[in-house]
Amino acid sequence: MLLTYVLNNTAHETYGEEVSHLDHALQAFAASFDRELAGEGDAAAVAAFWHDIGHSAGHDVTVRMRGPSGEDLGALDHETRGAAMMSGIIPPRFCTAIALHTQAKRYMAGRSGQTLSAASSATLQEQGGSMSLEEQLVFEGHSCMMEAMTLRVADDAGKDPNFDYSVWGGRAELLLLAIQQTLRCALIILDY
Ligand SMILES: [Fe+2]
Repeated sequence: MLLTYVLNNTAHETYGEEVSHLDHALQAFAASFDRELAGEGDAAAVAAFWHDIGHSAGHDVTVRMRGPSGEDLGALDHETRGAAMMSGIIPPRFCTAIALHTQAKRYMAGRSGQTLSAASSATLQEQGGSMSLEEQLVFEGHSCMMEAMTLRVADDAGKDPNFDYSVWGGRAELLLLAIQQTLRCALIILDY
């Protein structure tokens, strides 16, 4: 299923951003990849790579978010779908980070009035809008808040239509690194 996500047409859709899903995933991975953690599998970077995989769920079985002109902006519940899909592949706290990355966006919008991309602003309203002060306090008490915030920062960094893949040896090489890191994480969890 994971390889289907990166290789089939879903990965080449944009959902309102200036980059495809696959480029967004690659750039989010690159933004959080830590070479010192690579030998064990950098779970934070792997979570960043797969964080939007929940969007790939069938269009007929999910509630879709729509932009001002009715364009498809992805699955409303993509974060919980994505977290479930990554269960058993990355450590549980990073699955939780995927589940919380929409909440992290709401938190940052409420906390700092962060400027979002046009698509992200449109989906924010469907996802509940900026967090109230009370909601922020609850979120700050979550044991996986830091993982979720780190993921959200990588998410925001992964929307550059002019991203330079050459520093990674190329786009395909970066994809291979992300898949290799995913396998490392999975093998550790499976205790191979
Ligand atoms: Fe994202």
